[in-house]
Amino acid sequence: MKTTFSIIKADVGGCPGHAKVNEKLIELAKEKLKKAKEQGIIKDFFVTNCGDDLELIMTHDKGENNESIHGLAWNVFKEASELAKQLGFYGAGQDLLKDAFSGNVRGLGPGIAEMEFTERKSEPIVAFMMDKTEPGAFNLPIYRMFADPFNTAGLIIDPKLHSGFKFEVWDIKEHKRVFLNTPEEMYDLLALIGAKSRFVIKRVYPRSSLPEDEPVAVVSTEKLFQIAGEYIGKDDPVAAVRAQSGLPALGEVLEPFAFPHLVSGWMRGSHNGPIMPVANKQAKCTRFDGPPRVIAIGFQVKNGMITGHEDLFDDPAFDYARNKAQEIADYMRRHGPFEPHRLPLEEMEYTTLPKVMEKLKGRFEDVE
Ligand code: F6R
Ligand code: MG
Ligand code: MG
Repeated sequence: MKTTFSIIKADVGGCPGHAKVNEKLIELAKEKLKKAKEQGIIKDFFVTNCGDDLELIMTHDKGENNESIHGLAWNVFKEASELAKQLGFYGAGQDLLKDAFSGNVRGLGPGIAEMEFTERKSEPIVAFMMDKTEPGAFNLPIYRMFADPFNTAGLIIDPKLHSGFKFEVWDIKEHKRVFLNTPEEMYDLLALIGAKSRFVIKRVYPRSSLPEDEPVAVVSTEKLFQIAGEYIGKDDPVAAVRAQSGLPALGEVLEPFAFPHLVSGWMRGSHNGPIMPVANKQAKCTRFDGPPRVIAIGFQVKNGMITGHEDLFDDPAFDYARNKAQEIADYMRRHGPFEPHRLPLEEMEYTTLPKVMEKLKGRFEDVE
């Protein structure tokens, strides 16, 4: 049987500031999804947050981009925004860019990572959710899971992984995509995805033991900044990754996060900083609105039902990465308004430069 695993998320208001989703909004979302489960719209669900992003995780049999599933998510976000407005939460409804829903939530503001696949006998899936960063933040960890033998031992020693994977990469500026196979096209892949503000990994497909047209990983690639044409909020990304038995083991899927790599999007969407892997209870963005966070909730799915889940970074094995992230955060912060802590001019989401240039217009002199 085929199951669809959907993560749909939006920032519908923070409390306090941009730090966290309030428990009242999480409760509201749980209530709504419980009703939808009773009505048979979805099979199962899990609601959580990463920082100020409300995360709806749903299992069903309706495939990707389904109107009733996306409509359900949209209505949950709408109602949560209303409650956030009443309670005066910060940035209430900020990620809902349009007033009306028309078939699916793509382009309306929420971020989506969903995939339909034939369930294996046992189906472990990890939902990764990030706050204060952008979709390209997933390039390095997803690459390492599926293409780096120094991360994933299975690529070398498991016959089921040895033929590698196929990467679907999107050029989010030109709205184009390209498919690349690893290991043969590894250098071409890296030439693209190293430029993470433009080229993002959208999906990964298997090349042997599993159906080749069914994704094994998917990343949300909505760029709020570009959807709206001006800065109205972040595009904090989410990803779903299937694990084990012909795919990277659960521990190989988590291993890349032992290295807190630098990502863009901290403070006003305009700074680089380390991504810190944390437990859900630690996913509140406090220090300089960060540092950027990632949580990982692992699920077992059987016949479309969530039969168990675990908060995977709630583990001392990631303490070192958290401490390292703190150290890097300190180091980056000491650059203050200087690059590379501050993003290059064209990537900043807030800027005063046009005004500063206008003010100084008459004072710029030619130099030889
Ligand atoms: C939002 C975020 C924050 C805000 C910052 C300024 O998710 O990352 O860093 O950009 O708090 O917000 P405003 O301009 O709303 O005061
Ligand atoms: Mg926010
Ligand atoms: Mg956010």
